[in-house]
Amino acid sequence: KMTRFIDDLMQKMTLEEKIGQLNMITVGFDVTGPVVSKDVDASIRKGNVGSVLNTFTPTAARKLQEMAVKDSRLHIPLFFGYDVIHGHRTIFPIALGLASSWDLTAIERSARIAAEEASADGINWVYSPMVDISRDPRWGRVSEGSGEDPYLGSQIARVMVRGYQGDDLSRNNTVMACVKHFALYGAAEAGRDYNTTDMSPVRMYNEYLPPYKAAVEAGAASMMSSFNDINGVPATGNKWLMTELLRNQWGFQGFVATDYTAINEMTAHGMGNDAQVSALALNAGIDQDMVGEIFLKNLAQNLKDGTVKQERIDVACRRILEAKWKLGLFKDPYLYTNEKRAKATMMKKEFIADARDIARKSMVLLKNSNNTLPLKKTGTIALIGPLATRQHDMLGSWSAAGDWKQAVSLEQGMKNAVGSSVKIVTAQGANFTDDQQLIDRLNAYNGGIKPDTRTSEALIQEAVQLARSADVVVAAVGESQGMSGEAASRADIGLPGQQLELLKALKKTGKPLVLVLMSGRPLALPWEDKNADAILETWFAGSQAGNAIADVLFGAYNPSGKLTATFPQSVGQIPLYYNHKMTGRPYVGQQLDKYKSRYLDVSNEPLYPFGYGLSYTTFQYGKPELSTTTLPMNGTLEVTVTVQNTGSYDGEEVAQLYIRDMVGSISRPVKELKGFQKVLLKKGESRTLTFRLTPEDLKFYNADLKFVAEPGDFQVFVGGNSRDVQMATFTLGQN
Ligand code: IFM
Repeated sequence: KMTRFIDDLMQKMTLEEKIGQLNMITVGFDVTGPVVSKDVDASIRKGNVGSVLNTFTPTAARKLQEMAVKDSRLHIPLFFGYDVIHGHRTIFPIALGLASSWDLTAIERSARIAAEEASADGINWVYSPMVDISRDPRWGRVSEGSGEDPYLGSQIARVMVRGYQGDDLSRNNTVMACVKHFALYGAAEAGRDYNTTDMSPVRMYNEYLPPYKAAVEAGAASMMSSFNDINGVPATGNKWLMTELLRNQWGFQGFVATDYTAINEMTAHGMGNDAQVSALALNAGIDQDMVGEIFLKNLAQNLKDGTVKQERIDVACRRILEAKWKLGLFKDPYLYTNEKRAKATMMKKEFIADARDIARKSMVLLKNSNNTLPLKKTGTIALIGPLATRQHDMLGSWSAAGDWKQAVSLEQGMKNAVGSSVKIVTAQGANFTDDQQLIDRLNAYNGGIKPDTRTSEALIQEAVQLARSADVVVAAVGESQGMSGEAASRADIGLPGQQLELLKALKKTGKPLVLVLMSGRPLALPWEDKNADAILETWFAGSQAGNAIADVLFGAYNPSGKLTATFPQSVGQIPLYYNHKMTGRPYVGQQLDKYKSRYLDVSNEPLYPFGYGLSYTTFQYGKPELSTTTLPMNGTLEVTVTVQNTGSYDGEEVAQLYIRDMVGSISRPVKELKGFQKVLLKKGESRTLTFRLTPEDLKFYNADLKFVAEPGDFQVFVGGNSRDVQMATFTLGQN
């Protein structure tokens, strides 16, 4: 039915109208790239526009839809795309935080709620999930992905696609997912945004591509090309990537959009003039041009010149029309523009409750000596730091339609939790930065940083005085939200500004020092780790940030998050990730052992490893037991392990299973995550968990890019993080 409808429609379309379908414009409601479109209304009426970026609200979307449906010659409806990344109006923790929950049900729920709200707000296409693996916390967009692991990243990609799309895109509460950024954007050299990516195929296939593939297998409706080049060819003009890999190898059926003006930017990459890069992108397999209008201006001439074929334009146009059909827009172009539904849907009570619950699940307790946390609900707390009272930063980057004025600050959340039983006194203590140029750059996009103009000594002194009068100090320190996200790479990933100086001064008061960290990336915090009594990483926790953090601080919720990205001791160790390979000269800790793979000035160890996170209780793992020590090629291996809650609180634990392939045709990682279970154990409770492994789980791409499981010896590890594990061994048989 769809094919016949689109065949008929395309018969009637002129070349210009077909090219128009490939063109996405932005209305400038929100600005998410370097240019904004002009003459929007006229272009829509002329049939020069297939879709619209950066508009929302049913009223605004309807107005533009009417222009397309009533005034354009063929009445083809538009679809509307928007950066719904970690929630739409109800904002959840940034993606790195969501991933740290290791709770796939909660993550899927966040995507479902985002889809409910976005679809009621005139939007039917969201630019999520962002599945770029990154091992470089200097890269600001590490905040937008699930971290460093391809297995976990793939699981999260799948549930997010399902959360957004449901099983029927034509329902008015589902939206198309857009998997981004295809591909390898997270491997930008030196963590500098938009930078070069150069990578061996084996590494790509094994370590970086799995989450994109998982999203494709989950039925994602679209992909977005990335800004970086891959081994010399920009992703947006990369035929191997967009056609050979995505279509021919993976069988992707949806459409491929560019990132913002990414075709135009290929001229700066040195790929030719506008006409050349236009042809390059279309021939590579790009179907839609985001904002660049380069297809609009060049494709007709490209066709005349013979640099592109009519058939390729037709295929791209068909894919866009198919998306509109699947969304139900040909039946009802106003399916997503019902104001009544919008009013009833946004920030519903139950969504807010879920946002609070998901936020507290995402927080990672990094240190807690002498059971400093949970805090008692008595006495005086000095709440100090640039993030203590602010609402502005709570939502994190890419919370486009989120309203920070509706976010709960930490101060407010703590006050809500304790009422009048605790006196909470606050001081800023330090600015995020005193560098006016940086403030101007951050404020140009996000606004909201207004540094206190007193000297840093005066700010610190005021804070120290308050601390002296308190029983405990809670220091809310970290990054302002614009310090991570797009175009927000940092070369130094310690606490910015004078915050470390502030902490050192607070430490001298001798009061228990609790750090509540907010950041969009792993930070390097060696002093903090040594000197703080407790450290809670809360990321940017979203609309309910303050309440959720207070739940954890005062023990209404026992923290259960685990890191999905390694925290280094020092920026010089980057890239540092758990699933690295051995070298021929591994360093195993002997002093004076000169010719080993190590640094002179820092150990090889991370500050906090992948999978790490504490609880208010303790968990003890038994030795893993295997159902067999020889796994046949058609068999299943059961790994059982008993986990006991040995502390004095009920708590959730993420039990993790890793494998190591001891001998391979190519060298293999020292550990690879292959399973995890998040379980709630009452205090004293013991539970035996069973993990199942089949030879499929042991497969990897070999030097010929064949996906194989190689017979031989394996180690299997189970534990509460990637470092502290117990091991057993088995052999994968020949058959
Ligand atoms: O979705 C984003 C992308 O991640 C970065 N460039 C702009 C796009 C649309 O706003």
